[in-house]
Amino acid sequence: MTHNHSLRGRVAIVTGASAGIGQAVALDLAARGAGLILNARRESRLDELAQRITDQHGMIDGKPRAVGVPGDASDDSTIDAMLRAAQEHFGKPADLIIANAGRGLNGSVMTSDTDQWEEMIRTNLLGVAKLMRRSGEQLLKLNEGRDWSQHPTDIVVLGSTVGRHISPFSSMYGATKFGVNSLAEAARRELGPKGIRVTLIEPGIVKSEFQSVAGYDPDSFGDLMEKFSPVLVPEDVARTIGFIVSQPAGMHVCDVVIRPTRQDYP
Ligand SMILES: NC(=O)c1ccc[n+]([C@@H]2O[C@H](COP(=O)([O-])OP(=O)(O)OC[C@H]3O[C@@H](n4cnc5c(N)ncnc54)[C@H](OP(=O)(O)O)[C@@H]3O)[C@@H](O)[C@H]2O)c1
Repeated sequence: MTHNHSLRGRVAIVTGASAGIGQAVALDLAARGAGLILNARRESRLDELAQRITDQHGMIDGKPRAVGVPGDASDDSTIDAMLRAAQEHFGKPADLIIANAGRGLNGSVMTSDTDQWEEMIRTNLLGVAKLMRRSGEQLLKLNEGRDWSQHPTDIVVLGSTVGRHISPFSSMYGATKFGVNSLAEAARRELGPKGIRVTLIEPGIVKSEFQSVAGYDPDSFGDLMEKFSPVLVPEDVARTIGFIVSQPAGMHVCDVVIRPTRQDYP
């Protein structure tokens, strides 16, 4: 983790911050000096993380460095509450958005649990699109009348290697990440010319709560992890994101695939 304060003065929103990649990203951004709005559904975990971040990295203008906004990241009311919390708590809008909340689902169109399709599509695709829309509107407004090149602004979206290469084994999940892939690139083309970076991060296998939430068979998936070991840890992804958003506003690492070295496919 870096302690270079390259993000001092910036306010980040991280969805899915109660575990895995989102939690690691929150810790990394805080170490670089950002203030944090943390979202996920498990409130007690957010409270613990917010406390840990403030204890480790100190207050900002007498206020805790991180605050939790619990709720489903695909609900309009939660998105409103996150954006409002940034303004109310830090006195300025969020300028660094990490659209990370998401979930996997074991199986294909033919074999996955159809009862979970709607929730996954809502979380992984609709929720991300809504957050991009609402935060994009705010960032456009923020950049009006100021020199964007002096003020980096970011929307970072978590895709997946299965959102770039077809995996027949998790094709319903992959379809949501293909959707996110196209949304992120389209938004980059739309917002980039206005000084807003939209970045797509596509990790391969990362050890987190993801595997059990997705319902992967521990035996067969364990074998796959063993084959590719060491697999990624959330801090690998967080470090990459921290690097990207710390670059000067005029430079954009816009599309990154991160795999365990030994993961050949997808
Ligand atoms: N792990 C991998 O191999 C891998 C690979 C490629 C991409 N990704 C992507 O990376 C992102 C993070 O995954 P991860 O590996 O960190 O998984 P994880 O350990 O399961 O964490 C997922 C996080 O998202 C939150 N979340 C889930 N549904 C939510 C909702 N509706 N509203 C708000 N928060 C929600 C969870 O918290 P609550 O349960 O408390 O809400 C949790 O904090 C996901 O988008 C995933 O698709 C993961």
